Amino acid sequence: MIGNFAYCNPTKLYFGENSLTYLNTELPKYGSNVVLIYGGGSVKKNGIYDAVTEILKATGKNVAEISGVMPNPTLAKLYEGIEIARNHHADLLLAVGGGSVCDYAKAVSVSVNCKEDPWEKYYLRFEEPDCETLPVGCVLTMVGTGSEMNAGSVITNQETKQKIGHVFADEAIMPKFSILNPRFTMTLPHYQMVSGIYDIFNHICEQYFSGEDDNTSDYISEGLMRSLLHSSRIANANPQDYEARSNIMWTATWALNTLVACGKSTDWMVHMLGQAVGGYTNATHGMTLAAVSLPYYRYIMQDGLAKFKRFAINVWDVDPQGKSDRQIAEEGLTAMENWMKELGLVMNITELGATEDMIEGIADVTIVMPGGYKVLERDEIIRILRESL
Ligand code: NZQ
Ligand code: ZN
Repeated sequence: MIGNFAYCNPTKLYFGENSLTYLNTELPKYGSNVVLIYGGGSVKKNGIYDAVTEILKATGKNVAEISGVMPNPTLAKLYEGIEIARNHHADLLLAVGGGSVCDYAKAVSVSVNCKEDPWEKYYLRFEEPDCETLPVGCVLTMVGTGSEMNAGSVITNQETKQKIGHVFADEAIMPKFSILNPRFTMTLPHYQMVSGIYDIFNHICEQYFSGEDDNTSDYISEGLMRSLLHSSRIANANPQDYEARSNIMWTATWALNTLVACGKSTDWMVHMLGQAVGGYTNATHGMTLAAVSLPYYRYIMQDGLAKFKRFAINVWDVDPQGKSDRQIAEEGLTAMENWMKELGLVMNITELGATEDMIEGIADVTIVMPGGYKVLERDEIIRILRESL
């Protein structure tokens, strides 16, 4: 039976080549003090910063900046941003960048008026805000996380080597609006593009590989995966293909805007393993997922055999004739492995900087999620991590 759920997604999206124009429509809805948040400088090189600041100026905004938000934003950087937003009496946080910048803006949003330590409250105790939060708007420049239309925010505590994501329950934490121009993603290095593609794919897998019921969400997921496989191959051969890059951007949003989780228990163990590796290595998010995925899926395959068989047939077009369920499921994972190699993804955690002596520590910070086909014990986590080396 499909599970019970509530669904509400209030983020307004503007998609396409002219979408930045709509910043002119959105900005007047908020007070005059805007904090502009961006990363390490890509937006200055590709002209997006100039285009955004021109609109901020034209709409008469009083702008403060938080620059240098790093990939996998840190807690120390969050504390810095909270001060800037407080001193500026911010009315709107405008994130211009990838998932890191959007996630970071949400973390500032829930922290500016928070009386407690945000790390402990939101990332260790997973509590909801009980203070006023600030509205967030996004101009997306990197595709993958879905942060443009969800309430997720991942922060890394460098001191404890913990990388933890909180998906806030309150839809008020979702961006009020997001501007999605596929052209803005064209300057991404190939490494980031394919890392984002795998992040999208894995978001869908994390929701798909759970439950045994007949659920519409799974049919939507299969369609999204097929579209992504198709467009990823085109974009890999020609990154400037606008149609493929547009489809990838749109798929990313649907992959993690809560829709395909409806009625599902959802797994998320690849993300928990990947985030733990990320806490130790600061590696690129999508690559950490790619590096642990196959050892994990091969380990749990038998426990979710019917779904892995369906995945092989419906997503990878494996011909089931004359084969056992196990053979079909294995062929599906082999097809997935071939596609991952074709994209040039990192297939082991060693290449990301993880070493044998880190394994115990990585296992210690791996959060165990109960929604998938198998609830992992510590020794199983260690085994999967070793196989990922
Ligand atoms: O910092 P700059 O100079 O802007 O460079 C960035 C960064 O180095 C660069 N970049 C972004 N747009 C570009 C560009 N370079 C050239 N041209 C452009 N148009 O790309 C690099 C990576 O950016 P980042 O924002 O870190 O990537 P991503 O979007 O993958 O975000 C990763 C973060 O999101 C979290 C991850 O854990 C990680 O911290 N996630 C957030 C989720 C959510 N909100 O629901 C879910 C995800 O599973 C994920 O955990
Ligand atoms: Zn992800």
